[in-house]
Amino acid sequence: MSEPMLDLQGVHTRIGAYHILHGVDLQVAKGEMTVLLGRNGAGKTTTLRTIMGLWPTAEGTITFQGESIASRPTPEISRRGIAYVPENMGIFSDLTVCENMLLAACDTKRAEDLDAKRLEWIFGLFPALRKFWQYPAGLLSGGQKQMLAVARGIVEPRKLLLVDEPSKGLAPAIIQNMITAFRELKQTETTILLVEQNFNFARQLGDQVAVMDGGRIVHSGTMASLVADEALQQHLLGLSLTAHQ
Ligand SMILES: Nc1ncnc2c1ncn2[C@@H]1O[C@H](COP(=O)(O)OP(=O)(O)OP(=O)(O)O)[C@@H](O)[C@H]1O
Ligand SMILES: [Mg+2]
Repeated sequence: MSEPMLDLQGVHTRIGAYHILHGVDLQVAKGEMTVLLGRNGAGKTTTLRTIMGLWPTAEGTITFQGESIASRPTPEISRRGIAYVPENMGIFSDLTVCENMLLAACDTKRAEDLDAKRLEWIFGLFPALRKFWQYPAGLLSGGQKQMLAVARGIVEPRKLLLVDEPSKGLAPAIIQNMITAFRELKQTETTILLVEQNFNFARQLGDQVAVMDGGRIVHSGTMASLVADEALQQHLLGLSLTAHQ
């Protein structure tokens, strides 16, 4: 891999008395989608939160575009061009879809100032957002809320998008829409680190894959080589994805 855009080396995270991450080594290459797989409680969300500065890095280094971001304040990390779509989506139910999008924008405060071309592109990815634009986000279905959460992450161009389990709780047809949207997103310059437990979702999108267990990365390589290696899949699926077999 050439110089990674994001590089975690030996990252440890403690939450209060709990030692959660035990030396995470993870690289994300520019322009690629890296999928982070692992069973419940493996440490995937904690890894994303540590990258965003929402948990302090107890040990180790986190480098983004050659500069250290470990334990920096979250707004600074976000201003450097990293967007985070959290597991619980972080949507404001009482605000309209439009207002939710505006709150996620750093450079724009008024709907009429949103980049019209970009907005059309987002509506193309997620048509429901156009339909509900002026309605409270609380009216959206679970799948539509996931789409709004991802749309908030791309309301302005970002260098790196961290997305936590966008397929969670979605019906298969909606997952297929989400895959199509991510495929289109991949055509742009955005680099993506996607947390997933659904291997069928992950294998259709990922360029690289890392598997976590017990607060460590236990495998990393290309998605193509994992898909081609049934023995390795068996080993890793057994380790991390039993619930989805
Ligand atoms: N705020 C917290 N306080 C204490 N322990 C926590 C906290 N958040 C997470 N943990 C623990 O850290 C471990 C890793 O949790 P994390 O949420 O990172 O897992 P995950 O891989 O995202 O799991 P899931 O697939 O269920 O979302 C778990 O054992 C969890 O119980
Ligand atoms: Mg999680």
